[in-house]
Amino acid sequence: MANLPGPKIVTELPGPKASAVLEESRAYEPRCMSDQQPLVWDHAEDVWITDVDGNVFLDFSSGVLVTNVGHCHPKYVEAIRDQAGKLYNCYDFPTGPRAQLARKLVEMSAPQLTKAFILTTGSEAVEASLKMVRRASDGYEILGFGGAFHGRTYGAMSAGGNEGVRRGFGPVVPGMLRAPFPYCYRCPLGHEPEGCSMPCLDTLDYTVKTQGNGQLAGVITESYQGGAGSIIPPPGWYERLEEWRRDRGLYLILDEVQSSFGRTGKMFAYEHWGLEPDAVTLGKGLSSGVPCAAVLATEELLGGLSPGELSSTAGGNPLSAAAALASIEIIESEKLVENADQRGKKLEEAFHAMSSAPRVGDVRGMGLVWGLEMVGDKDSKTPSPEAAMRVVSEAFKRGLALIAPIGMYGNVVRIAPPLTIGPEALEVGISVLSEAVSMA
Ligand SMILES: Cc1ncc(COP(=O)(O)O)c(C=O)c1O
Repeated sequence: MANLPGPKIVTELPGPKASAVLEESRAYEPRCMSDQQPLVWDHAEDVWITDVDGNVFLDFSSGVLVTNVGHCHPKYVEAIRDQAGKLYNCYDFPTGPRAQLARKLVEMSAPQLTKAFILTTGSEAVEASLKMVRRASDGYEILGFGGAFHGRTYGAMSAGGNEGVRRGFGPVVPGMLRAPFPYCYRCPLGHEPEGCSMPCLDTLDYTVKTQGNGQLAGVITESYQGGAGSIIPPPGWYERLEEWRRDRGLYLILDEVQSSFGRTGKMFAYEHWGLEPDAVTLGKGLSSGVPCAAVLATEELLGGLSPGELSSTAGGNPLSAAAALASIEIIESEKLVENADQRGKKLEEAFHAMSSAPRVGDVRGMGLVWGLEMVGDKDSKTPSPEAAMRVVSEAFKRGLALIAPIGMYGNVVRIAPPLTIGPEALEVGISVLSEAVSMA
């Protein structure tokens, strides 16, 4: 491959400097974060990560779907440097960057979304969206979906649908109902995908009737379920959900913390299904690194709030806002949404070829976010977190950085390179991954 900086492994893994950092980390940091490969990042440029020992890895993680514009893009770095020399934080006093970011987000999104509330983390954006729906409605209940991940703060984890996030943390926030999500490879209702009439949607009224108190205010859903294992609803599912919630006068919150800013091959994932959400939560790829999140919402949801009802110390600080503006500018001017779409087609081809491997049960994805669901064997579909972990660690040994397995059963390998990835680097990543999959 012509002139690529890596992958290049020059020490044992982890190398000596990495081992020292790992030792310090294990001594002084808790183990509550996700358990990743022993890759101690030193610096990164575009899709290439260099560790503290000089090993070079190809990034198929984007952090965790954050660095959509690649690492340390020169224009991004310049915008941050420039802003850092001027002003970091001035609380809720308005600033040019915050107002410009709000305007940009409103202008680039669907017409009903007329206000943008800027925050810092995805969980915080989800919390704010739940609060604004409750504030605007006579009801207070929110319908979410099994498997959903909306964050780890109390409201967000309560709206989510995965026991693993809640276990051990006591009672959750009341008023959250949960319906089955169309995880068609493992249909929660036991149906086969072929010819399925989507009876999961027929359970919505039953869910509300049996779990609720007659106070339903809104629906929250990820546009595709990320943490549950890159689960994308079948064609027609969203359209029917949209009709159902409209008929009942419910607000729709779409959690696009992970799926927006080109990741799926569209700027916002809701464009794939023509959805008209009342609120859209954003994070991760919104600013490609410097923490920044937002809720885009209708006049009805955000326009009616009074001073002091929602606010946060660091939300919309000028540094984050300048970073987000630079990131959006790069996504638009370098046509990264189109690149994600094109490269995604190549990934789709490659994964369909890999799906014949005995341990690959299912492949799912769109644009530059994919999941390989690993199983004991194709007939039993028994989830194999061990096989998924083997893929991740064999890829690591060969210089390909993947996030630790995800999924309801911890058996899905997630692939999500930065949207700047070119054809040659993608080819290298596919070939390493395919070798790693063959060893699972
Ligand atoms: C769909 C979704 N919503 C919310 C969050 C929470 O974002 P954060 O970790 O920035 O709080 C995440 C994070 O992975 C996510 O994927």
